[in-house]
Amino acid sequence: MRLDRFLSGQTALSRRELTALIRSGAVTVNGASVRKPETPVTPETDHITLKGAPVKYEPFHYILMHKPCGILTAARDAKQQTVMDLLKPEDRLQKLAPVGRLDRDTSGLLLITDDGQLAHQVLSPKHHVTKYYAARLRDPFQEVYISQFYAGIMLREGDREEQALPAECVQLDERTALLAIQEGRYHQVRRMFAAAGNFVEDLLRLQIGGLFLPPDLPAGGTVRIFHKETASLWKKPDISEVKRFFIDNYSSYWIKDTI
Ligand code: URA
Repeated sequence: MRLDRFLSGQTALSRRELTALIRSGAVTVNGASVRKPETPVTPETDHITLKGAPVKYEPFHYILMHKPCGILTAARDAKQQTVMDLLKPEDRLQKLAPVGRLDRDTSGLLLITDDGQLAHQVLSPKHHVTKYYAARLRDPFQEVYISQFYAGIMLREGDREEQALPAECVQLDERTALLAIQEGRYHQVRRMFAAAGNFVEDLLRLQIGGLFLPPDLPAGGTVRIFHKETASLWKKPDISEVKRFFIDNYSSYWIKDTI
């Protein structure tokens, strides 16, 4: 791979800026200054630095966002602000896209990546990746939700009724529920509570598998993670563990997360 191509995949600098930097001697390959942008490099094994800092090779990029309410989950939109507009300038890399969708009025954990295969696996119904949501309800939580959701509540799909997959649910406080679902149907959590006779006023996604919303990440904030950290997507933490984590880390601020 050409040196300038490698660097443009790992940084948000333009090809033109990179060419100028390389020509100025700001880049080394295995300890030697290299001034030709077309120099061939082997990203997996070569040690490359830019302005003295090592450029770590990551074939794909993974960004965790604390999606705020009121922002569209889409790669782009002609009229409305999207989650991609919230990315830091250095993260605006080509081919990044959100993995699945959160409704405009849902906040919480959103994974953004250019790893299409991983995105496909997370979204595939075959993999049953568990998503954990805290739902603030209009009316008090009812014990019966636990068994109704576990049995698979009926949801209207067009002119048919379909049974949702079993979902786990526990109570967090008088009007807040924690729900673990394995599907990603349109407005799923809101429709599940509507089918049970309640209404979701606020919805926060806390976790995808074992990958959690960093409690210190403000709404609209992002943090990069490494590929090895995505392994936790396939875990299925016990809902009681997630409940403990929620109570210890988020309960005081999660509702005030609009920007
Ligand atoms: N369920 C919903 O109803 N909305 C979301 O954004 C995610 C899950």
